[in-house]
Amino acid sequence: MLKTDTQIDQTHIWHPYESVLHPYKHPLVKSAKGVYLELEEGKMVIDGMSSWWSVIHGYNHPRLNEALRNQMEKMSHVMFGGLTHESAIELTKKLLTLLDDSFEYVFFADSGSVSVEVALKMALQYQVERGKKEKSKFLSFERGYHGDTFGAMSVCDPVTGMHSLFSDVLHKNFFAPAPKSEFTSNDATKDLEAVEAILQEHANEIAAIIIEPVVQGAGGMRFYSPVFLQGLRELANRYDTLLIFDEIATGFGRTGRMFAYEHAGVVPDIITLGKAITGGYMTLGATVTNQKVAQMIEQNGNVLMHGPTFMANPLACSVANASLELLMQNPPFAKIEKIQNQLKTELAKCEALPNVKEVRTLGAIGVVELTHRVDMKTATQSFLENGVWVRPFMNLIYIMPPFIIEEEELRALTDAIYKTAKLLQKSLK
Ligand SMILES: Cc1ncc(COP(=O)(O)O)c(C=O)c1O
Repeated sequence: MLKTDTQIDQTHIWHPYESVLHPYKHPLVKSAKGVYLELEEGKMVIDGMSSWWSVIHGYNHPRLNEALRNQMEKMSHVMFGGLTHESAIELTKKLLTLLDDSFEYVFFADSGSVSVEVALKMALQYQVERGKKEKSKFLSFERGYHGDTFGAMSVCDPVTGMHSLFSDVLHKNFFAPAPKSEFTSNDATKDLEAVEAILQEHANEIAAIIIEPVVQGAGGMRFYSPVFLQGLRELANRYDTLLIFDEIATGFGRTGRMFAYEHAGVVPDIITLGKAITGGYMTLGATVTNQKVAQMIEQNGNVLMHGPTFMANPLACSVANASLELLMQNPPFAKIEKIQNQLKTELAKCEALPNVKEVRTLGAIGVVELTHRVDMKTATQSFLENGVWVRPFMNLIYIMPPFIIEEEELRALTDAIYKTAKLLQKSLK
């Protein structure tokens, strides 16, 4: 007998971080518009996840659709080796306008993880070309997350990054404790001492420090003090290592600034971008660096050895241009502040639940940390029944809605989070 679409999904398709042998029944999305996903049988749910940080302007946006259509009529793709095109040039202009003036060179990669691979490679090649081949490791952080490819995995938190499973293959790097100083704190001395202790002993082996600025995302949804980043910049200079900021999740407004490094007023040598760069329409990453790094990489006549087939894909670049144009023409920061205030006020009532450890908000990010792992089946069912799409992980219920979300829609999300956390508490007994 022929299998139904649901059966095909359940028997043949791998979904992220899920069993292929004991699958969930995944809700099927028929279409999406604004902040709504249309599920089978016409049920509409409000998306609290922006499809993992990316859909900042909402789904099916007329300006983004138009950009893609226009580009498609010209060409969907052309190789970037030996050729160039207008959409990549325009996107480079926009990125360099938005980023700090010290950034000068853009490498377009096919995803966030690949842009991290390129950043690591840039740092390694920088050290090799200046005769410091022994500086071949990275200093990263517990609770950090930088992607699922092998280089990126080697700088992810050793436990959640499953280092023990891949220990024979993964590059051995150094890990400092996750920064504990709170976002509002002006003192990160203790956190910085732990980093310096590693640098004192191993700086001669370390090519670069890599960190997600201000928000550690998929490793625990933790916010920390921008003062820590100022200290890291100083330590990187003093101990002669490069500094990489992974802004794949935080870039393009999410934390209330265009880039999270702006909270700290310091810039890294290399920055990685992805996710919201295309407004969540297509996969695209970028690794951007400064004169110092680019000069050194080429000083002996070599070049950066990386070149994906779909590098600077014109469709992805064109929709990224439209997305950045929207951000530049109508800066979303007042709206993001409004979202932050509403999240703060409305999620506060979760603090009274006995199974809630902490509630935290920053920019358009709201996090409810529970004292226990989330029962995904119960939570997913509860969210859908309450008309929203929220996808918890570990003990975290979190949302990062599209910036266009209206007050009532955000209230539906915060109400659903409260009800679901309460329900999860009951089912613990
Ligand atoms: C901070 C950070 N870096 C890298 C990545 C990997 O990006 P991608 O999933 O596009 O490969 C992610 C994805 O969640 C991320 O949050």
